[in-house]
Amino acid sequence: DPEETLKPRPPVVTIMGHVDHGKTSLLDALRGANVTKGEAGGITQHIGAYQITTKGKEKQKVTFLDTPGHEAFTQMRQRGANVTDIVVLVVAADDGIMPQTIEAINHTKAAGVPMIVAINKCDKPEANPQKVRERLLEHEVIVEAMSGDVQDVEVSAKTGAGLDDLLEKILLQAELMELKANPERFAEATVVEAQLDKGRGPVATVLVNRGTLKRGDTFVVGTESGRVRALIDDHGKQVKEAGPATPVEVLGLGGVPQAGDMLTVVENEQRAREVAQYRQEK
Ligand code: GTP
Ligand code: NA
Ligand code: MG
Repeated sequence: DPEETLKPRPPVVTIMGHVDHGKTSLLDALRGANVTKGEAGGITQHIGAYQITTKGKEKQKVTFLDTPGHEAFTQMRQRGANVTDIVVLVVAADDGIMPQTIEAINHTKAAGVPMIVAINKCDKPEANPQKVRERLLEHEVIVEAMSGDVQDVEVSAKTGAGLDDLLEKILLQAELMELKANPERFAEATVVEAQLDKGRGPVATVLVNRGTLKRGDTFVVGTESGRVRALIDDHGKQVKEAGPATPVEVLGLGGVPQAGDMLTVVENEQRAREVAQYRQEK
């Protein structure tokens, strides 16, 4: 629709990197939260989807996805869902390039998504950020300090050093991309993860691609229809609606969808049944 009103939307940033290199800790530090502490064995099991608002006078939002391994990213891509605008590759400056670092580089390249390298744990005495930059060359990731065009930043999730710089680089990259979406239409969202909750029934975390998802909306997701019974934001608060690039939990699903499924809002229940039926027959 050429008449559509496109408005700037927040960037969606996926954090990737080797196990224990500090992905969740970095996000915790950026959000002033402490998710890491509550994780069983300190291992991320679920995708965390969070939004932060920058502190400066120009309040800007950034949406982050924290991934447990790279299966989630790959699965979504395989299902045609490209929700990520920017990848932040976290490399621990003491550990250096590890197998999952290389996997993350390959996934990012395959997706054609710009990458920012966060060299983490720079507070550690054994940290060697220069070695990380050199080893990245072997994987054709050439950072600015090595005369390339991949932005890199030395950080510490522990001390908070470099975090403002990282955010600034993310916002700069996002600005270049001129990310826009129309908030004034029926919502289309991508399922990031879903599960059957004992008390609440099927629950899906979705990321709104375009439009605004509202309480009471009728939708189709996968081959099931449903109606938004409640929307819960990343602070656990009930909200009435969620606009583009906003992560939100949806209650009121008929079943448990798969990561990468599209949730599409439709006019009414009859239309929802028709679309669900059509998708079942395909
Ligand atoms: P997975 O989700 O299991 O892949 O790990 P992760 O990449 O999310 O790493 P996590 O945030 O769980 O951090 C792993 C360990 O490194 C924890 O013990 C953190 O406290 C520690 N850690 C993370 N960032 C830093 C840092 O900047 N400095 C230091 N010294 N330790 C850090
Ligand atoms: Na961990
Ligand atoms: Mg983690």
